[in-house]
Amino acid sequence: MAEQKLLGKRAIVTGGATGIGYGIALRFIAEGATVIITDIDQPGGIAAAEKLGPNCDFVHHDVSVPADWDAVFSIAKEKFSGLDIMVNVAGVTLMGTIEELDVETWDKTMGINVRSCFLGCQGAIKLMKTDGGGSIINMASVSSFKAQPELVAYNASKAGVDMMTKSVALHCARSGYGINVNSINPGVIQTDMLKKVVSQVDNGEALMDSYKAMHPIGRIGEPEDVAAMAVYLVSAEASFITGSAFTVDGALGLN
Ligand SMILES: NC(=O)c1ccc[n+]([C@@H]2O[C@H](COP(=O)([O-])OP(=O)(O)OC[C@H]3O[C@@H](n4cnc5c(N)ncnc54)[C@H](O)[C@@H]3O)[C@@H](O)[C@H]2O)c1
Repeated sequence: MAEQKLLGKRAIVTGGATGIGYGIALRFIAEGATVIITDIDQPGGIAAAEKLGPNCDFVHHDVSVPADWDAVFSIAKEKFSGLDIMVNVAGVTLMGTIEELDVETWDKTMGINVRSCFLGCQGAIKLMKTDGGGSIINMASVSSFKAQPELVAYNASKAGVDMMTKSVALHCARSGYGINVNSINPGVIQTDMLKKVVSQVDNGEALMDSYKAMHPIGRIGEPEDVAAMAVYLVSAEASFITGSAFTVDGALGLN
């Protein structure tokens, strides 16, 4: 049997009920970690934790709400007496151009996609800095550097996540905390989020075909593709890597 890369590691993964978050939790557990998945979707989160087995717990959590984060970190402290890995995955894609999008949708996107990472990093650093360091990953997107007119809020939120990641990484590095902080920029990945995006437009099938065609590698991605990068970034092999954004996109970003 291959060596487990995350044996004994303690992790929190937000948005773990489905999609990329679930895929990351699945790989982390296979690599020997114990994982708390969190999600706003209570039934989905409970079902996911059951599927993931005894090394997984679910905590109900709205990532945009500071008090919810306090509860998540208290549970982690109690259960784990510390934290090695924080992965901020939960996010939403709410569509609209600059002329269409209302301010409530803008604020909601920023709350769930950016404020979440701010709060997640802040709380994780508190636990990790006195406990031998750790690794943080924030989920951004190819949309952080590739503009799409119908994704004005999403584009801005993911660019914010990438730059915030660098700022946090620099702070942690200069403070000597031993905490690595990186982001991942996935291309289009086959998840519920993709289904929701496709359902928001009239010509969903055509949009899906165009997404496939946008990837020079000839396919869209799977959660496993992103999970493989996440395992690497939180493993001992990545100890010199911090403050970077890692694109996992079948060359979509080069198009
Ligand atoms: N799927 C893609 O093509 C793609 C591409 C690039 C980046 N991403 C990013 O990856 C992340 C995960 O995407 P996915 O495709 O797995 O999405 P998904 O919709 O399949 O899953 C997201 C999960 O986040 C949860 N969530 C939503 N709002 C929440 C909140 N306020 N608090 C807590 N949980 C909440 C949902 O309930 C869901 O379980 C997102 O940040 C997304 O922007 C996705």
